[in-house]
Amino acid sequence: MKKINIVLFGTGNVGSKLINQILEAREILRQKEGLEINLPVIANSSTAFFQKENQQASWEADLTNFGFPYRLEDILEYVHNEGYENLIAVDATASEQFVDNYNELIHAGFHIVAANKVANTRSSQFYARLRETLLEHNKYFLYETNVGAGLPIVETLRNFHRTNERVTRVRGVFSGSLSYIFNTYCEEEKTFSEVLTEAGDKGFTEPDPRVDLSGKDVARKLLILGRELGLKKEFEEISIQDLVPKHLNGQSTLKNFHRNKKDLDPIFLKLKKDLKQDEVIRHVGELDLQTGALDVKLVKESRTSAFGSLQNADSSFEIFTESYGKQPLVIKGAGAGAAVTARGVLTDLVKLAEKLH
Ligand SMILES: NC(=O)c1ccc[n+]([C@@H]2O[C@H](COP(=O)([O-])OP(=O)(O)OC[C@H]3O[C@@H](n4cnc5c(N)ncnc54)[C@H](OP(=O)(O)O)[C@@H]3O)[C@@H](O)[C@H]2O)c1
Repeated sequence: MKKINIVLFGTGNVGSKLINQILEAREILRQKEGLEINLPVIANSSTAFFQKENQQASWEADLTNFGFPYRLEDILEYVHNEGYENLIAVDATASEQFVDNYNELIHAGFHIVAANKVANTRSSQFYARLRETLLEHNKYFLYETNVGAGLPIVETLRNFHRTNERVTRVRGVFSGSLSYIFNTYCEEEKTFSEVLTEAGDKGFTEPDPRVDLSGKDVARKLLILGRELGLKKEFEEISIQDLVPKHLNGQSTLKNFHRNKKDLDPIFLKLKKDLKQDEVIRHVGELDLQTGALDVKLVKESRTSAFGSLQNADSSFEIFTESYGKQPLVIKGAGAGAAVTARGVLTDLVKLAEKLH
């Protein structure tokens, strides 16, 4: 039986779902894949729980009752002393700083699986250096959920790139929250601020919806895909349409934004009124491999197109390549959500296990 040992960093929406999915799938993975997944360490930003035996009871209770404040070195020493092999660090944090630990983790013998996008969107120098370190230590780094959550976008593009299939353009409705907002706004007689509030109440937007409206998250995903296809771009080179008016942007408080979010209404009403009868507004990211341009913007789409017919918080990606010609390969479905993201991380873990001895 092949064994992998996972140290999980982050027990929020995605991390907690991942633990539960691993526990539920454990027996099937043993029987069908001949794979044993152990979770010797679970950690959040302040507390870690080390276990000697396989998870039996509630991990939440164990983390609360037996967790303790930790440093990364404590974890590295523990897994070393216990002689764990096939170590994989899962980054299910949303932390800017956590990726600074990747180097140390790789040196200590870990492969990495990340839902966190930060490592792939820092400078291209950091990006290249990380890959060099992985290569030097013969370690793998998988991050399918960085774009489109559980949808197979990164791997599809990587496979095209590896096999010399020329990708000419990638377009996508990358953001589940902005998909919901514009799908709803274009269908219903509600003001933009009402739809925005509704999206927040349903848990689609970030606690601060300006994170979504600024377009930065979509830009990060676009950069990840561009780099996957060999583009040497920096985040600052992406053209981003920021949907937050200047007087409500990050310089002002969230409270002030909510108090004045009605100021967005006339802006979006004008866009809506300018639409032809069969048109809708969509928030897209576009990557043109011929010019190297990366764009995050609002576009008008026909209601019957792949993007125009989207519903709820679904994402859709169109990949144009030489062999596919004018008709792109389309990948569509839930592009966000903790359950689909955790399943994507688990898939990365199983794929990584296949590569190990
Ligand atoms: N949700 C989705 O649909 C989706 C889709 C694709 C990718 N992702 C990515 O998945 C990641 C996790 O998302 P989430 O929604 O689960 O976030 P979340 O609910 O905010 O959880 C983040 C977790 O990370 C922990 N954490 C923060 N800094 C840490 C550190 N330095 N060391 C160890 N743990 C640390 C937090 O600990 P505390 O509780 O102690 O603060 C928390 O448990 C994010 O990077 C997100 O962008 C999410």
